[in-house]
Amino acid sequence: MPPALYLVRSGKVTIVKKNGDERVVAAGEYFGEEYMFFTSKQSKDIVPDSIVVKYSAVALEETVCGVLPLQEVGIVSGRIQAIQDIESTQNIALEDLERHRILGEGQFGVVWLVTVKNMDTDPYALKIQYLDDPCRDDPAECIREEIKMMRAIHHPFLIQVINTYEDEETISMLLSLAPGGELFDILHRKDVNGWWVSGLAEPIAKFYAMVVADTLAFMHRQKYVYRDLKPENILIDKDGYPVLTDFGFGTLYHRLCWRWYICMLHASSLSFVPSEET
Ligand SMILES: Nc1ncnc2c1ncn2[C@@H]1O[C@H](COP(=O)(O)OP(=O)(O)O)[C@@H](O)[C@H]1O
Ligand SMILES: [Mg+2]
Repeated sequence: MPPALYLVRSGKVTIVKKNGDERVVAAGEYFGEEYMFFTSKQSKDIVPDSIVVKYSAVALEETVCGVLPLQEVGIVSGRIQAIQDIESTQNIALEDLERHRILGEGQFGVVWLVTVKNMDTDPYALKIQYLDDPCRDDPAECIREEIKMMRAIHHPFLIQVINTYEDEETISMLLSLAPGGELFDILHRKDVNGWWVSGLAEPIAKFYAMVVADTLAFMHRQKYVYRDLKPENILIDKDGYPVLTDFGFGTLYHRLCWRWYICMLHASSLSFVPSEET
C-alpha cells in the first residue's frame, strides 16, 4: 500500500502488523498513522521510496477509504514549520521592502506584492490601510484588532502576519503571500469566446469547501469568528490550497452581541451575510 493516511468512510478493515498484531478499523477510524510520524521529521519535498509497508490491510466487507497521500501531509507539515519560521523574519523593516505590483484591493486596503531588498527570501504581500478611511468610525482601532487576531491565531490555511508598520497616515501589515490569486477568479472566468462562465467541477468545489470549513472550524474552536467569508477573501496558495485572508470583521466570540450584529449587517461586505450570523 502506498504511504498515506487511510480514513475509513464505510465498511471495516483488518490491519495485520508484521509482528502478528491485528486490529479492526471501522468507519470513522483511520490507519497509516505510522507514516505520518515519519513525515513530520522530513522535509515536505521528500517522499521516501524506502518506507517499508509495516502492515497489510484486508477489507472485511465492502469498504470506502479516503486516502491522504504522504506527499500532501508533507505539504501541510512543511507549512506548520513555515509558520514557526515566521518568528525569525519578524524584523523586516518597511524601507527594506520593494513593491512590485498591486495584488488586490478590498474595501479597506490595497495589497502589494513585495520582496525584501538584497535578500533572497520568499516574496510577501504588504497590505496598506489608510487611517482617514471615512467608512469606519475608528480605522486605527479596527486595524489593530485585525492585527491582534492574526497574531493570535496560526493555521496552515490562514494568512499569517509577519510584521506591522505604522505612520501618521497608514497601518501596514507584511503578510505571507498566496500567489494563486482569489477563488473569485477561479469561480468566474472568461471562456475562449470571451463570455463569462461561472462554477467549478464538483470534486474541486468539494475540495475548497472542505478545507475552508475545516479552517473555520479550527477558528471556532479557538473562539474566533471570521464573518467575511466570500470568494475574494479566499486566496489560493502556491500548492493550490485555499487560505483565508482579511480578518477585518473577525472577532472573539464573547464580544458578539445583538447590537454589534445589527451594525455588522450594515457595515460588512454588502453582498454577504457572515455565515456564523445566520
Ligand atoms: N496575502 C495575500 N497574498 C496575495 N494576495 C492578497 C493577500 N492579501 C490580500 N490579497 C489580495 O488583496 C485583496 C484585498 O485584501 P483584503 O485583505 O481582503 O483587503 P480588504 O480588507 O480591503 O478587503 C484580496 O482580495 C486579494 O486579492
Ligand atoms: Mg477583503
